[in-house]
Amino acid sequence: MTVRATLDPLFEPLRIRDHVIPNRLVNTPHQTNLAEGGLVGDRQIAYYEAKAAGGVGMIVTGGWAAWRRTWTSPAANLATHPDAATGQRALAEAVHRHGTLLVGQLHDSGRQGSSALSRQPLLAPSAIADPVVREVPKEMEKSEIRDMVRSHAEAASRLCEAGWDGVEVFAAQGYALAQFLSPQTNRRTDRYGGATVAERMTIVLEMVDAVRRSIGSGPLLGVRINGHDMVAGGLEVDDARQVAVMLTETGAVDYLSVSGGSNENHPGWIPEMGREVGTFLPWAGRIRAVTSLPVLVTSRIASREVAEQALTEGRADLVGMTRALVADPELPRKLRSRDDGAVRPCIACNQGCLGNIFAGAALTCTINPGAGRELDRPRPPEVSRRVVILGGGPAGLQAAVRLAERGHTVTVHERAQEVGGQLALASRVRSRAEIGRIVPWLRDRAELLGVRVELESDMSAARLADDPADVIVLATGSRPSTDGFTSAIPGVRRLPGVGLPHVGTVHDALAAGLELPRRAVVLDDDPHGHATSMAEHLGSQGVHVVLVTRSLTAGWWAGPANAHPLHERLARADVTIMTATWATRIGEEHVDVRSVYGDFCSRIHDVDRVYLATGNVAENAIHDELVASGEGRPVIRLGDCRAPRRLDNAIWDGWNVSLEEGGHR
Ligand SMILES: Cc1cc2nc3c(=O)[nH]c(=O)nc-3n(C[C@H](O)[C@H](O)[C@H](O)COP(=O)(O)OP(=O)(O)OC[C@H]3O[C@@H](n4cnc5c(N)ncnc54)[C@H](O)[C@@H]3O)c2cc1C
Ligand SMILES: Cc1cc2nc3c(=O)[nH]c(=O)nc-3n(C[C@H](O)[C@H](O)[C@H](O)COP(=O)(O)O)c2cc1C
Ligand code: SF4
Repeated sequence: MTVRATLDPLFEPLRIRDHVIPNRLVNTPHQTNLAEGGLVGDRQIAYYEAKAAGGVGMIVTGGWAAWRRTWTSPAANLATHPDAATGQRALAEAVHRHGTLLVGQLHDSGRQGSSALSRQPLLAPSAIADPVVREVPKEMEKSEIRDMVRSHAEAASRLCEAGWDGVEVFAAQGYALAQFLSPQTNRRTDRYGGATVAERMTIVLEMVDAVRRSIGSGPLLGVRINGHDMVAGGLEVDDARQVAVMLTETGAVDYLSVSGGSNENHPGWIPEMGREVGTFLPWAGRIRAVTSLPVLVTSRIASREVAEQALTEGRADLVGMTRALVADPELPRKLRSRDDGAVRPCIACNQGCLGNIFAGAALTCTINPGAGRELDRPRPPEVSRRVVILGGGPAGLQAAVRLAERGHTVTVHERAQEVGGQLALASRVRSRAEIGRIVPWLRDRAELLGVRVELESDMSAARLADDPADVIVLATGSRPSTDGFTSAIPGVRRLPGVGLPHVGTVHDALAAGLELPRRAVVLDDDPHGHATSMAEHLGSQGVHVVLVTRSLTAGWWAGPANAHPLHERLARADVTIMTATWATRIGEEHVDVRSVYGDFCSRIHDVDRVYLATGNVAENAIHDELVASGEGRPVIRLGDCRAPRRLDNAIWDGWNVSLEEGGHR
C-alpha cells in the first residue's frame, strides 16, 4: 500500500488503489461559510488553493450539503445545485495544480441542522430534539430516507464528474447518519432501527452501496465514523470497531476517518485548548487493529511529534488537521523543510473558526486573519521608515512582525519584564494556558526579522519626543475598570463599596503569590474571558466562588462554540453561578445583590474578597499627551487601546497596520 519515497514518515506517499496521496497530511473537512448562494466562488477556491500550495496531501471539503432538503445556508455549498459544476470543476483544477487530492464530504446534518433556509421541519431518524438546536425534528419516512440516499449518490457523482478524486460519507459527530447509528437518537422500529449496531448500520450500508454505484469503481470513497460518541448510552469504541469491520467487509470503502462526539458534548469533536492533544488517537488505534483499510485520524494534532507518533505507533495511516491548517496553511511545507518553528500555532480557541461559523460569518482565525482572505492583494511596496511601537502585547507584536516583513526598522518597548500583555494573565489559568502560545511565536518571528524588543522600558510622551522614530504606534492595551458599573443598571455610575480594600480586579485574582481568599464573589459584566477565567482559576484552587453575572449565562461571550466546555470547567471548579443578577452594595463581609429583571434581592454572606470583571478601559494617556503636545509624526493606535476588545481584534489590528494610509484612529 505504501509507496516509499522518503524517510520522513509524514512525507511518505500513500497509495490507495490507483490514487497516490503525496504525503500523510490531510486537511480534514470543515464548514467555511465561503460559498456564494451555495456555489463555489473565487474566495473559496483561493482558500483551498492556499492549503494545496502549502503542501497538504489531500483536502476533504466540509459543509458540502448533499441534499437540498437539508441545506442549511447559502453560505454553505450545495453539491446538487444545478449550477454547481463550473465552480466545483474550477476548485478541483486549483487544488490539483499543486498535486493535492480533493475529496468531498457529503454533508447532511439531520436534527443538528437548521430549518431557517428550508422552512421545513428538520429530519432525523426519530423525533428527538437535538440538545443544541432544540428543535423537534420530524421522524423520517421511508420515502425521505430513499430521497436522502438518492441525493447523496447524485451529489457524489456530480463531484466526481467535476474532477474530484472521491467522496466521504459522513457518519460521525452526531450528524444525520450518526443519528441512525446511535441508540440514543434512533428509536425506530422499522429496518432502520434496532437494538444492535448491525441493525442500525442498515442506512449506512445502503448509503455506501448507493454512493459507490453512482461514482463507479475509480474514485475514492471514505467514511467518517466516530471512535466514541463520548456520551452515556451512545456508541463506544467496541461499537465503532464493529462499524469499521462492517464497512471494511463491503469492499466498497477505501479509507476510514475517525472522529468522535456529537452535539450532546458539543463541540466534543473540535476539542478546545486544555484538552489532551491527539484526543482520538487511542480510538483510531483500536479501530485500525480490526480493519485492513487505511485509517485517518484528526483532533488536536498540530505538531510533528504527535503526527509522527500517530503513524509510527500504528494508530493511523493518515493524519488529519483542520484548525492547524486554518492557523497556518503552509504547515506541511514548513514541516517538510524542517522549519517547524515557523509554523504559526493554532491555540485551539475555537473563536475565529468555529465561533464565526456559529455567528453565520465566514470562517477566519483568531491568530491568522489571512484565513478566508486569500484574495486580498499584497500591500504595495512602502518607503522604509523607523517605527517605534509602545506595548508588547499581541497587537504590538503582530504589528512589529508585519512592519518588519515590509522592510521597516522596528523597535518595541514593553514596560513589563516580558512581552504578552494581558495574554500573560489569561494564560495563568491552567486550562487556558495555550492562549498564550502565540506570544513566543510572535516574539521569535519579530526577533528573527530584526525587531528590537526593549523590556522593562516604560515609555512616556517625553521619552518619545527624543526618539528618532518616523512613526509612533501605540499598542498600550487596556486595564480593568474599577467602578463596578454595568449597563444592565445604567442609573448607578459607581457601585457602592467598590473602594473597599478587599475589592480587586482580574489582575489581583491572577497575580502570582497573592494570598488566596476563602470565599470570593466575582462580578461578571465582561465582554471576554476575565470573569470566567478568574472564577475558574480561584475555584480550581479551592476558593469558594460565587460568580454573579448580569447576563443570562456566565461567559455569554463564549457563544455556542465555547459555552459547553466553559460551563463544564466552571462546574469542575465548583463555581456557583447567579445569573441575571447584579450587586447593589459591597459590604465588609457581604455582597447585596438583586435581580436585573425584577425586585428580588438577596445577600451573599462571608465574603472575604470581591473581584470586578466589569470591562476594560483603554490605556490612552500617552495618546492624549501626544495630541495635546501637537506631535507632528503619524500616531497610530492598535488593539485594546483603540477600544478594549479581544485577542482577535488585537491581532487583526496588528496584521492590518498601515503606515501609508493614515493608520487607525
Ligand atoms: C484573564 C483574561 C482572559 C482573556 N481571555 C480572552 C479570550 O479568551 N479571548 C480573547 O479574544 N481575548 C481574551 N482576553 C482579552 C485579550 O487578552 C486582549 O484583548 C488582548 O491582549 C489585547 O491586546 P493588546 O496588545 O491590544 O493589549 P494588551 O494585551 O493589554 O497589551 C498592552 C501592552 O502594552 C504595555 N504597555 C502599556 N503602556 C506602555 C508604555 N507606556 N510603555 C511600554 N509598554 C506599555 C503593557 O504592559 C502591555 O504589555 C482576555 C484577557 C484577560 C485579562
Ligand atoms: C469551523 C469548523 C467546521 C467544521 N466542520 C466540519 C464538517 O463540516 N464536517 C466534519 O466532518 N467535521 C467538521 N469539523 C471538524 C474537523 O474536521 C475536525 O475533526 C476537528 O476540527 C478536530 O480536528 P483539529 O483539532 O485538527 O481541528 C469542523 C471543525 C471546525 C473547526
Ligand atoms: S480560530 Fe483559534 S482554534 Fe480556530 S484555527 Fe484559529 S487559533 Fe485555531
